[in-house]
Amino acid sequence: MPTVKEILETMDYGPAPEASGEVTAWLAARGRFGHFINGAFTKPGETFAADNPATGEPLAEVTQGTEDDITAAVKAARKALPKWAGLSGHERAQWLYAIARHLQKRERFLSVLETLDNGKPIRESRDVDVPLAIRHFYHHAGWAELIEDEFPGHTPHGVCGQIIPWNFPLLMLAWKVAPALAAGNTVVLKPAEYTPLTALAFAEICAEVGLPKGVVNIVTGDGRTGAALVAAEVDKIAFTGSTEVGRLIRRATAGSGKALTLELGGKSPFIVFADADLDAAVEGVVDAIWFNQGQVCCAGSRILAAESVAEDFTRRLTARLAKLRVGDPLDKCTDMGAIVHPVQLGRIHDLISAGEAAGARLIQAECQLPPKGSFYAPGILLDAHPANPAMVEEIFGPVATLSTFRTPDEAVELANNTRYGLSASIWSENLTLAMDIAAKVKAGVVWINATNVFDAAAGFGGMRESGFGREGGREGMATYLRRPSPTAQPEAAAGRLDAAPQTGSPAAPGIDRTAKLYIGGKQSRPDSGYSYAVTYKGREIGLAPLGNRKDIRNAVEAAHKASGWGKVTGHNRAQVLYYIAENLAARQAEFEARLHDTGHSPKEVAATIRRAFYYAAWADKFDGAVKSTKTRNVTVAMNEPWGVIGIACPDAAPLLGFASLVLPAIAMGNRVVAIPAASMPFAATDLYQVFDTSDLPGGVVNIVTGPRDELAKTLAQHDDVAAMWYCGGSEGAAMIEAESAANLKATWTLPNRDWSAAQGREFLDRASQIKTIWVPYGE
Ligand code: NAI
Repeated sequence: MPTVKEILETMDYGPAPEASGEVTAWLAARGRFGHFINGAFTKPGETFAADNPATGEPLAEVTQGTEDDITAAVKAARKALPKWAGLSGHERAQWLYAIARHLQKRERFLSVLETLDNGKPIRESRDVDVPLAIRHFYHHAGWAELIEDEFPGHTPHGVCGQIIPWNFPLLMLAWKVAPALAAGNTVVLKPAEYTPLTALAFAEICAEVGLPKGVVNIVTGDGRTGAALVAAEVDKIAFTGSTEVGRLIRRATAGSGKALTLELGGKSPFIVFADADLDAAVEGVVDAIWFNQGQVCCAGSRILAAESVAEDFTRRLTARLAKLRVGDPLDKCTDMGAIVHPVQLGRIHDLISAGEAAGARLIQAECQLPPKGSFYAPGILLDAHPANPAMVEEIFGPVATLSTFRTPDEAVELANNTRYGLSASIWSENLTLAMDIAAKVKAGVVWINATNVFDAAAGFGGMRESGFGREGGREGMATYLRRPSPTAQPEAAAGRLDAAPQTGSPAAPGIDRTAKLYIGGKQSRPDSGYSYAVTYKGREIGLAPLGNRKDIRNAVEAAHKASGWGKVTGHNRAQVLYYIAENLAARQAEFEARLHDTGHSPKEVAATIRRAFYYAAWADKFDGAVKSTKTRNVTVAMNEPWGVIGIACPDAAPLLGFASLVLPAIAMGNRVVAIPAASMPFAATDLYQVFDTSDLPGGVVNIVTGPRDELAKTLAQHDDVAAMWYCGGSEGAAMIEAESAANLKATWTLPNRDWSAAQGREFLDRASQIKTIWVPYGE
């Protein structure tokens, strides 16, 4: 006689399909969809099929959006803008609440529709996608209510073009639409071509709640429609999708003045320490890589296990793998559904084959896959070396690599051995260790003893090639708002860089100064051996080094090496900044005289001293936050330095402009490579002794003089520069944005402004990026 335990263990699950009649009737009634423009559906144009990936059967026909469709949608959004932006936050909040409630009423319908269209298990669309989408509208209704208090003087960008992927179709829509509307923007959203249906259902909900026409417009279509939206007359682009397309969009928007946020790919580490609760970590892997068939940008796709437990962990993991149920997504017992599209399935096959060809060993669940549809058995890849394509490329399927490490340092090194920086998951019962590792991994989101937890109140977004900008919480709202703008000032006449460079020595008669570069805390000669004459009123006032690419590369290397600066406390950085202020104050008269003699305002010196005191004060006060997330976590938002920031300073206000940009950057723990005003580089180069006597570690501030745009271009192209600030003309700004696309560095192109008022939170925000860390709390 088998025992009850044995019976329970051998018993198979009976099918428990969710009813789909209501959704199929809805689809049958619509049949072919047009776009949703100006509050109504357009007539279908040229259409393509939206298929059910679990069966390959068509669900509906949707329209391939043309340029004209995009133009019409943008026009409708533009027309709706003044009224929508003119509403009070409270009034907009009412609309967002109404949307949230209507979504809630349709929870089951939307879950089934999402599962049919995307292939994800109904359990996930029902328990994760749809509830979280609703939560986003509620949360952002709250931001609309509070906007006047919490974002005083801010204005919406205007019309936002939003392009979303197919892995969380309705949820990504909510992530984009809710903050945009709360902030007073109107939107044109393009859903992914594989999964347009919940967006179209959402459009119906907008019509049903009576949302003013044109506030939300939805245009379906593929990448061509997306490209048309990027090129259209919109004020902001928000994109989630592949890094490759993110890069195209960065280049396409360069110099357009359109605001941009990019949420791109990842290859996130999942680190299991020897003292981890291994069973919990195994369940973590289930949520990390077998959730949503692994089609998750922040999937824990690189498992790194401590060598001492790796064997045990792998054994438990493979046992768990064997129990995963793959099959009908509508079945409530299904763990893993279908891959979104045959094309994506092919991509997964190709990458896994490449991984195997490069020596990795695939362990795959021996499950019976359904005869039709796009299914892939979940698995893990063992023995993949760091250069294996499966370790490097985003597979976006239900397979993670598993490799081992010996020490925490090695774990960090492996974790950061990627061009991405989206998320990381850390498993250890030792919170001290886990928090230490959290500080060291390059990731925008870190989960401790958890993975793939999301909430509207917490920021989400990446570092490095995973993109820039955050979605969710206050920081997400900020990306849909423009700060009160300072008045732009005309740029002072740029300095003359002599066409014929002169050798640095000997100094010609009448020339009273020869500056040097400042790299790694030392003064050095330029690689070219040349200097250029700096003139004032036709008189040569000195020679400044003509820096070149090599000098910039040396400066970046020195800045890179000074990484300790990001780790010292805010208090310590404040001390150095106070010191700079005091040492400059001791030489105030001398600096004033020099500025005066070269036609600049001596007042810049006093203002620079104040600025140094100001950022010294801020260095230990630019606090992060603890987020009120729905789950029991202490979810902290930490302001982290970028690393190395390249700064091209304004020609106007050569001392104060330089200080206004460099000081907040270093106050937040960044290292800087600065290009001072070419017309008066001495204002910056005269500071070397001030820096040297103020305990500023070598390499924290590096200064390379010379032609601004040429040097800035090298900085923008450099992979070790994480962010680039550029103050100059619009042509230069466009160049910087385009050149920064290679490693997707965040750029800040700012016009010349009144530098006497150029300080505050804006600079500190720009000087830091938020890392969100989810720590267990309570039960
Ligand atoms: P994709 O990046 O091509 O598609 C995402 C969205 O961008 C879709 O709406 C698409 O129509 C649109 N799009 C495509 N080309 C465009 C262009 N030139 N201009 C504007 N919009 C454009 O992603 P795809 O091809 O569906 O998937 C390819 C790979 O990308 C996946 O295997 C995965 O590795 C990665 N991916 C990452 C996502 C993430 O959330 N990080 C989401 C989707 C895909």
